[in-house]
Amino acid sequence: MAGVSVGTVSNVLNRPELVSQQTRQRVLDVIEQVGFIRNGSARQLRAGTSRAVGAIVLDVANPFFTEVARGIEDRLAEDGYVLILCSSDESPEKEARHLRLLLEQSVLGMLVVTADRDLGRLEAVRRRGRPVVLLDRTSPDGTMCSAAVDDVHGGELAVSHLLAGGHRRIGFVNGPLAIQQCADRREGARNAVRTAGLPDDVLLEVTNPTLNADGGEEALAALLADPDPPTAIFCVNDVTALGVMRGLLRRGLSVPEDVALVGYDDVEFAGLLATPLTSVRQPKYQLGRAAADLLLTEAAAGPEHRHEQRLFQPELVVRASSDRAGLP
Ligand code: RIB
Repeated sequence: MAGVSVGTVSNVLNRPELVSQQTRQRVLDVIEQVGFIRNGSARQLRAGTSRAVGAIVLDVANPFFTEVARGIEDRLAEDGYVLILCSSDESPEKEARHLRLLLEQSVLGMLVVTADRDLGRLEAVRRRGRPVVLLDRTSPDGTMCSAAVDDVHGGELAVSHLLAGGHRRIGFVNGPLAIQQCADRREGARNAVRTAGLPDDVLLEVTNPTLNADGGEEALAALLADPDPPTAIFCVNDVTALGVMRGLLRRGLSVPEDVALVGYDDVEFAGLLATPLTSVRQPKYQLGRAAADLLLTEAAAGPEHRHEQRLFQPELVVRASSDRAGLP
């Protein structure tokens, strides 16, 4: 219909720089006219990879990962790739299943928020020549690219703020220590107490194994049952803080008057609550873009590729849930 060879049509789709503008437009007009859509599977077989990138996060229902995913998606789209997003629910077994399924989809590479400290599962992916970028955690030995936030500093910001507010018994609702982010926030929280020259038992730590609101409310019960209950609570993320706040209000306790509250992530709802939540803001969108950029760079590079660690800094956003001055 366009009066050209099949090879020319292929070049228009795959190597348009080889075809004159006039011929290219004539072919594109016919493609539009007949509604032709190329077969991704066929292309995938020839190229060996699809136009998709996989990302395994802990829980897509956590708005933190939704905002990170948006940064990934936008950066991938700039190079003509799409995102396949999966949740591991902090399960190494589920993470391993997703890794296999994504390999079967011949993804260009993967971005992974690992469910625990073991990076061995990722080696199987890399042995197939697929790049893997660590997301939201660092690469301890620099053998992979990573995009993360300094969670040790984030934990320090949260607890230093509560100590400056006069609190000397601070609850810390953390997630499983197998998750690097949780271990780092705990290290930062403890650093803040020691830097202030205070005893370690200023911090009263409990675990929210699910990292969600229900787990946060359950953890609150344990804190309030302590003989010396806290006057302030630092939560490992904002959805946990939401559950803690719900539990406090159900008990008729006010925030911050009875218990000050600090979250982590600064997701969109944090500032919208009836008592706006003080939170440690993570640069979520930028984190996602950076991870996707690292992956695309590694996929395009040859064996001379040098892994890069990109580390972002958190910042404390003070709101009414921790500041008696009743900031917005
Ligand atoms: O998934 C647990 C937490 O780790 C998220 O809320 C976010 O803080 C991430 O860094």
